[in-house]
Amino acid sequence: MIALKTIFAQIENSMSEKEFIPASYTTLKEEGTVAYSSPSNIALVKYWGKRENQIPANPSISFTLAACTTKTSVQYKKKDKKSDEFSFDLLFEGEPKEEFKPKINTFLKRIEAYLPFLKEYHFVINTSNSFPHSSGIASSASGMSALALCFMEMERSFSESISDEDFNRKVSFLSRLGSGSACRSIEGPLVQWGETASIEGSSNLFGIKYPYAVHEVFSNFHDTILLVDKGEKQVSSTVGHELMHGHPFATQRFDQAHSNLEKLKSVLSKGDLKTFISIVESEALTLHAMMMTSNPYFILMKPNTLSIINEIWKFRQESNTHVCFTLDAGANVHVLYPEYEKDIVFPFIKEKLVPFCQNGQYICDRIGLGAKKL
Ligand code: DP6
Repeated sequence: MIALKTIFAQIENSMSEKEFIPASYTTLKEEGTVAYSSPSNIALVKYWGKRENQIPANPSISFTLAACTTKTSVQYKKKDKKSDEFSFDLLFEGEPKEEFKPKINTFLKRIEAYLPFLKEYHFVINTSNSFPHSSGIASSASGMSALALCFMEMERSFSESISDEDFNRKVSFLSRLGSGSACRSIEGPLVQWGETASIEGSSNLFGIKYPYAVHEVFSNFHDTILLVDKGEKQVSSTVGHELMHGHPFATQRFDQAHSNLEKLKSVLSKGDLKTFISIVESEALTLHAMMMTSNPYFILMKPNTLSIINEIWKFRQESNTHVCFTLDAGANVHVLYPEYEKDIVFPFIKEKLVPFCQNGQYICDRIGLGAKKL
């Protein structure tokens, strides 16, 4: 029964993947330049575990961020003759960056079927982040989505007409093939990815703009990112996702993500911050619990991560505010709070939490509306 269900799901997916193969182009330009700025995002319900072709093991939802962004420009020039190799130079902050090239090459291979012009061109890709390079902030979501946007902009200029909706959907689809969470960076303020019964139109192939009502308390929500540890992670997200295969709590975890998303629906429409906090903090701790209970096990939180969490819990009780935390796959802490509490919460962050940051570094971000053409 389960096997049949899986086969049907695969057929369904492969059928809709074909929708992203373009019919034909009107013209292929000789040369040009395209540029985009794309943001990072912070998941409220976490994506952790995936199947082949970047299909998520469970659905997720995120706030799109505003300040943490990647700017990418792609200069393209038609090759004299189409070759069998991808051809590109990669500049990071204006300097050649050889070590980023294999990841981009893999990305190009994965998306070639959907953008068949890629081998016709030589590209100069120039990319930079708004956040410090070694901040421990993952740049894969903003970086991969910015690049996918540039390639899609090329496709748009080669084609008759693509609606904004189709454009965004295909960019999200392509971004997912670069990095799963990148598919949630195109639009804002909330993006959901991964098929789930409670959200109409949800798909494993791309992220969708959250389709239901959102209470105004969530507009302008703040995310102050505390940089606890800027070092290289011992275990990458990609390896972490892998370890969910055969994980003893995988089934329960994936079910929990579906149920948390369903619960979030009324929380988001009613502006129920109390339940919001309990879902978001539990998701963050569950993510790290999955890491601690996988085989091999690992810990990405640092002592200061825990000190910050305890300070937040203490302050929340004393102040009666709605400040809460979430975590990525790392030691940094995202401190979330509504705009109307910023005058109480931000001074607390500066006084009590920033001392736990490496070199006192933090980033003031907030909920954002998605990528921008430059
Ligand atoms: C913990 O999207 O970085 O941030 O698909 O392998 O590139 P890949 O993984 P990635 O995983 C992000 C995991 C997370 C949770 C989330 O953003 O939902």
